[in-house]
Amino acid sequence: MTVPAGDLRAAVATMMAAHWREGGYTVPHGSVYPWQWLWDSCFHSLIWAELGDGDRAVAELANVLAVQDELGFVPHMTYHGDPAARADFWGRPGTSSITQPPVYGHAAAELVRRGVAIPDELVERAVDGVRFLLEHRARSTEGLVTVVHPWETGCDDSPRWDGWCPGGYERARFREVKGELLASVEWSEGGAPLANPAFAVGSAGFNALVAWNALELAGVTGDDGLATAAADLTEALDGRWSGDRATWTDDGPHVSGAVRTADGLLPTLLLTRDRDEGFAALGDRTGLGGPFGAAGTDRREPAYDPTSYWRGPVWPQVTYLLWVAASRAGHPVAGELATGLRAGALASGLAEYWHPDTAAAGGAVPQSWTGLALLV
Ligand code: GLC
Repeated sequence: MTVPAGDLRAAVATMMAAHWREGGYTVPHGSVYPWQWLWDSCFHSLIWAELGDGDRAVAELANVLAVQDELGFVPHMTYHGDPAARADFWGRPGTSSITQPPVYGHAAAELVRRGVAIPDELVERAVDGVRFLLEHRARSTEGLVTVVHPWETGCDDSPRWDGWCPGGYERARFREVKGELLASVEWSEGGAPLANPAFAVGSAGFNALVAWNALELAGVTGDDGLATAAADLTEALDGRWSGDRATWTDDGPHVSGAVRTADGLLPTLLLTRDRDEGFAALGDRTGLGGPFGAAGTDRREPAYDPTSYWRGPVWPQVTYLLWVAASRAGHPVAGELATGLRAGALASGLAEYWHPDTAAAGGAVPQSWTGLALLV
């Protein structure tokens, strides 16, 4: 299914209405993803605001943060109405036991900028969520906040983690061993995930999102501590630019840190020293650039596979974030990213992700976060 160009807004509105659930959140897809996911819901909140429904925008953000624990940790999945679902797997009922990129900082700041009234408590919870990552998470050798599991980055099967996968990446095996990784997570007394000696990864993309969401919240609250922490992370990322590979690299013993991926350019959201080089890499059509948004993995990487989950397709939410980076910096690649995101969303029928050169749909169709195409 493709969506006629003039109908993008109507198609997104229809999809969002169909995916809205009475509990006050939007499912990414009715059958493939029938629960609430953290960063998806932050993006949904922005889409609802764009569609003019401030109530749903606030309700969805509130629902993400409602399951926050006393340390500030926010689980990445909530099993509304079915607390027993996957409870054995996560070791707790109702939610998962790991997190995802803290995009609630951007969502809260954007709602404020759009004049949507949001309760102070929501902003405070968002600050606590970012502070949890800044203050309680184990750091890598070079000072980056670590993730305890690939799923925490949101970029599940990224070739960036192939160096960790025993025997090298193979989809089924990766699935299997990723479950086992939960066994080595170290938890706070209250059950918040703090470290994982078996996956101590300082992901450049994840850290860029931690720092940027801290800055977004500092803009709303005037909290200098958040701004300072963001500046420290930015400095750590400055040390991780690889000029040869034109990417920021991850830190830690379990990664293939120099694989060129779109999320590896998320430090362009910050005032990083090599930001313009990052934007240049985004525009390079032999690598990550293209007519339908940023390819998830650089076309020149041995791991590149344009149809395989996280191994090459365009991911609309990553393209949106890179567009925010470029448009705020006034860089011309913003125009290409915006045109590409809209074209890919239309041609793929609002798919979860799509082929970078043909926009052939991949994954769940339609997927809620692809409504982000309305914002660019
Ligand atoms: C997949 C993605 C993850 C997303 C989830 C729901 O697991 O890798 O980033 O949050 O689907 O859309």
